[in-house]
Amino acid sequence: MTHTDYSLLARQLEALLDGRDWLTNSAQTCAFIMQQVPDLNWVGFYLQRQPELLTLGPFQGKPACNPIPFSKGVCGAAGRSRQTQRIDDVHAIADHIACDAASNAELVVPILCGEALWGVLDVDSPLRGRFSAADQEGLEALVEVFVRSSELPDLPLAW
Ligand code: SME
Repeated sequence: MTHTDYSLLARQLEALLDGRDWLTNSAQTCAFIMQQVPDLNWVGFYLQRQPELLTLGPFQGKPACNPIPFSKGVCGAAGRSRQTQRIDDVHAIADHIACDAASNAELVVPILCGEALWGVLDVDSPLRGRFSAADQEGLEALVEVFVRSSELPDLPLAW
């Protein structure tokens, strides 16, 4: 499995996110991850702009499914459980939502703003079993850098 130096990536991302605007920072974060983490075909944000519904935000990759309710898919599971979902083979997940036929593995990290679920970061790979526990920890750390660096608007969301 590919070794990625996530602590170096966290420092680089921190330097890249030099303003507090969440829109700029979310766009930069997914572009940065797509460039720096090998073997990915889709990286993007889904935002909770209405209760229990995930709306597509900035992303890199093919046009994607929108919106995603909390009741469906790997993103929905991350939203309702607030737990990272690390899936070796998406085809083994009955309600997986296939946006890009190239995707075989998926990691979805919930993003919290205080008590509220603000959104999720969704990362897809064409390689089965692509995401190790170390990748999960590293990508969660990159999400933490994004949250720390950004002014996240509260729910209810008038934006
Ligand atoms: N596969 C996701 C849907 C989002 S796309 O992968 C971009 C899911 O099952 O929630």
